[in-house]
Amino acid sequence: MNLLHARIPAGTADTAPMVAARADFLAAGAYRPLAEELARVCAESEGLVIDAGAGTGYYLAHILDAAPAATGLALDVSAVALRRAARAHPRLGAAVWNLWERWPLGDEVASTVVNVFAPRNGPEFHRVLRPGGLLAVASPAPDHLRELGDLVLAVADRKEERLDGTLGEYFARTSRTAVRRTTVLPPDQVRQAVAMGPAGHHLDKGGRRERLAAISEAQEVTVSFTISTYRRL
Ligand SMILES: C[S@@+](CC[C@H](N)C(=O)[O-])C[C@H]1O[C@@H](n2cnc3c(N)ncnc32)[C@H](O)[C@@H]1O
Repeated sequence: MNLLHARIPAGTADTAPMVAARADFLAAGAYRPLAEELARVCAESEGLVIDAGAGTGYYLAHILDAAPAATGLALDVSAVALRRAARAHPRLGAAVWNLWERWPLGDEVASTVVNVFAPRNGPEFHRVLRPGGLLAVASPAPDHLRELGDLVLAVADRKEERLDGTLGEYFARTSRTAVRRTTVLPPDQVRQAVAMGPAGHHLDKGGRRERLAAISEAQEVTVSFTISTYRRL
C-alpha cells in the first residue's frame, strides 16, 4: 500500500539496486546474529509490532517468527523495499510512508516499535506505542565494517549517547547489548555490504564503483551492532 503523496528528497529512499543488494546480502546470513538478538528481545510482543524503516522486512520477519501473537507493520519510504517486505512474512503488512511525517496510525496502537539503521522520530515512536510499550533500536557500532575503510560511510561518533538524548524525553532505557563478530565475506558480499548502505547513494564518489569492481578476494570484516531497548514512559 502506498500512502505517500508528498515528494521526498532524492537520496532518502533506498533505490532498486540498493534494495537488491540488501536482499541478497541478508539472505546469505552475515547479519543473522542481529536478527536473532532482535527476535529475542521482541519475543514477548503481542498485537502490533511496527518496524520503522523496515527495508525488505528481514528483521521484522524474524521477530514475527519469535512472537506468534504479533502482527507486523513495515513502514518505509522505499516502495521497492516494501514490495519485498510485504512478502517477507504471512503476518506482515507494509505501507510506504515518510517517517518524518505524522504516521498514518492512531495513538497507542502498538506494543512494540523496532528501528534498524533507519530514521528515528522519537515523538512518533512515543505516540503510537502504548504505555509501557517496547522500543528496540539497532545501530552500527563504531567498528562496524571498519576493514572496508572509506568504501563505507563512517559511523557517527557517540551515537548511543545521542540516541539516549533524543529519546530520553519519552523513554527509559532498559538494556543495551553489543552484537559483534568477525566474518569472511566473499567479493560479491563485500560489494553488496557497501551498495546496500548509505554509501549506496554515493557509489560514483571517490572511485567507489571502480574500487568495488576490482575486489577479487574474500575479506574478513567486523560486523558490530548495538541494540538498545526502551520502555515508553
Ligand atoms: C539502512 S536501510 C535499513 C533497512 C532495514 N531496517 C534493514 O536494516 O534491512 C534504511 C531504510 O530507511 C528508509 N528510509 C530512509 N529515510 C526514510 C524516511 N524519511 N521515511 C521512511 N523510511 C526511510 C530507506 O528507504 C531504507 O529502507
